[in-house]
Amino acid sequence: MPDANARQYRLETDLVHAGGLRSEFGETSEALFLTQGHVYSSAEDCEARFKGESPGFIYARFSNPTVTMFERRMAAFEGAEAARATASGMAAVTAALMGLVKAGDHVVSSKALFGSCRYVVSELLPRFGVASTMVDGPDLAAWRAAVRPETKALFLESPANPTLEVIDIAAVAEIAKAAGAKLIVDNVFSTPLWQRPLALGADCVVYSATKHIDGQGRCLGGVILGSQEFIETHVHTLLRQTGPSMSPFNAWVLLKALETLPIRIERQTRTAGEIAEALAGHPKVARLIYPGRADHPQAEIIKRQMSGGSTLIALDVAGGKPSAFRFLNGLRLVKISNNLGDAKSLITHPATTTHQRFTDEERAEMGVSPGLVRLSVGLEHRDDLVEDLTRALDAV
Ligand SMILES: Cc1ncc(COP(=O)(O)O)c(C=O)c1O
Repeated sequence: MPDANARQYRLETDLVHAGGLRSEFGETSEALFLTQGHVYSSAEDCEARFKGESPGFIYARFSNPTVTMFERRMAAFEGAEAARATASGMAAVTAALMGLVKAGDHVVSSKALFGSCRYVVSELLPRFGVASTMVDGPDLAAWRAAVRPETKALFLESPANPTLEVIDIAAVAEIAKAAGAKLIVDNVFSTPLWQRPLALGADCVVYSATKHIDGQGRCLGGVILGSQEFIETHVHTLLRQTGPSMSPFNAWVLLKALETLPIRIERQTRTAGEIAEALAGHPKVARLIYPGRADHPQAEIIKRQMSGGSTLIALDVAGGKPSAFRFLNGLRLVKISNNLGDAKSLITHPATTTHQRFTDEERAEMGVSPGLVRLSVGLEHRDDLVEDLTRALDAV
């Protein structure tokens, strides 16, 4: 098998070609290897394959040619030595954390997280004897105060779901290094196009490929990326033996989706910036948060650590939940959904969906207010979106 995950060309070119494994038929488009396993020329060959002495595929729970192509292309995209695909983003988050800790260890995480990520850190890990402390993400002193000798992992989302809070990744990476812990960054909201956590000092990056990487609402997927050593030591065996594997079909869809990712994300980000500009002064918008606007609370960090804005906008509708619901129900083009990063513009009321399982107090500390809505901007024409959003806000 050819090796080299390393970037050969510029980003857009690698996203079309990197990691491809062309078969003896010389196909143009990457093949979908819909097979659970592989056959061997002899018992000796089979034994050598299992011992890792001869290269090649064995069983789809731990490797499949189409999944491998997706992993290699993602590694080239991220500038990572190694990548492992998983069945969903949550499988990636859970495996990355579980691979680092054992009973008696400790994890520190930012408070503002996607609901399921927060569940893993604050409820699941403690069930297995792993204590966790949640800190206010932008408060670096709080991260420093929270680490202990037994801290093994620091975890953060930046920009966070759904508040778009941004955390200084390089500074938290230094805190992790000084504490002898690993930093895992959930980079779902940025994609590697706008933010590169490994270059900022993180040890591991995780994605829900379900979002911008698919970008067309078709399948679930996740990816864990890091150094060869990180993936081999902390991730590979856990995934191989426990089996939260990506299906070859999903890998094929996601692999092909990577080819168009820069065009989609650049356009969606530009449109989102223009929509943020158009809605910011609307009398029914109590607050609008968009990475790239000068009034974003972490505008200085964004300038340093992100090369683009976001396809997402957070806005607090004046009047709380009843007003937010009137806004959502008044939309015709933008669809009510819990997903994001899609070609279709989607809107979410986090307090009653992704963050519904938390108490009012917990939601408040995450910044999820009753009037907060998260808008994921798609590929529609900007003017159609601005008209739909403005008309629905006017009627609130
Ligand atoms: C920031 C973040 N991380 C992880 C996930 C989980 O991804 P998946 O739904 O693919 O499991 C999501 C899903 O919304 C997310 O927004």
